[in-house]
Amino acid sequence: MRERIVISVSGKGGVGKTTTTALLTRILIEKTKTNLLVVDADPVLNLPRALGIEVPDTVGSIATKLRKSIDDGAISGSVTKQDVLEGEIFESLIEGDQFDFLAMGRTEGEGCYCFVNRLLTQILDRLSQNYEITLMDMSAGLEHLSRRTNRNVDMLIIVVDASRAAYEAALRIRDLAKEVHIEFKKIVVIGNRFPPGMEEDLRGKLEEEGLELIGMIPSDDELSKANYQGTSLIDLPSNSSGVLAVEAIAEKLGLLGDATFLKLLGKSS
Ligand SMILES: Nc1ncnc2c1ncn2[C@@H]1O[C@H](COP(=O)(O)OP(=O)(O)O)[C@@H](O)[C@H]1O
Ligand SMILES: [Mg+2]
Repeated sequence: MRERIVISVSGKGGVGKTTTTALLTRILIEKTKTNLLVVDADPVLNLPRALGIEVPDTVGSIATKLRKSIDDGAISGSVTKQDVLEGEIFESLIEGDQFDFLAMGRTEGEGCYCFVNRLLTQILDRLSQNYEITLMDMSAGLEHLSRRTNRNVDMLIIVVDASRAAYEAALRIRDLAKEVHIEFKKIVVIGNRFPPGMEEDLRGKLEEEGLELIGMIPSDDELSKANYQGTSLIDLPSNSSGVLAVEAIAEKLGLLGDATFLKLLGKSS
């Protein structure tokens, strides 16, 4: 098994995080034999549809149930909270032929969920040890960074569209990542749905901020149609412009070959 890596896809709401995550998933399962865990860390839960999968239980819904059991005194004595939660979460893991899937969802109810959130972090950390690549679709908010629910993250992909707000969000995400001491080995930016001809301008702007533009995803009609019909992006034609763009990005990131990838992370094999 090759080096384990966690990739988080972040950015302002609506910029294309879920689309990017789904297309990366598609490329990884199509082009590699990567042992892959895909995580929907956005409570809105758009990723399952984009991947064409049903999600009966989320980590959050299980955590909520656990919280109730603790309040009711149903859990005590020999079993620890962590044991219970961990066991249940492994049940909520959806094991597919080509990749495994976990939906974080959200916890409900009142009170402090600090311990639950801490457990989720630990469990995700542990779970990701079992996979070569863990690919996480993050929520638009920055709280996941400050809560450090994606500690030990190797690579941060920030998606921007052609809006000032998305650009500023990208800079904030970068700064926050530094503030909370999340050690990203690599931070890259993807430009999604920019009008043609804007790539070099964006690249220059980002470079001044010390950020690398790794590629652009064009506005893709096939993708829009799939989105309208609510069908999976896994089934998009291979020659659709969005798929081709993300394939080029995956290649550039070294995700399609072992050696490049290790070099990218500054690790020797
Ligand atoms: N390159 C693209 N071409 C066409 N439609 C896109 C593209 N990128 C995103 N979209 C559409 O824009 C909307 C928002 O994208 P999404 O990936 O859900 O954003 P986020 O996850 O960042 O909120 C979705 O309806 C998606 O299908
Ligand atoms: Mg999304």
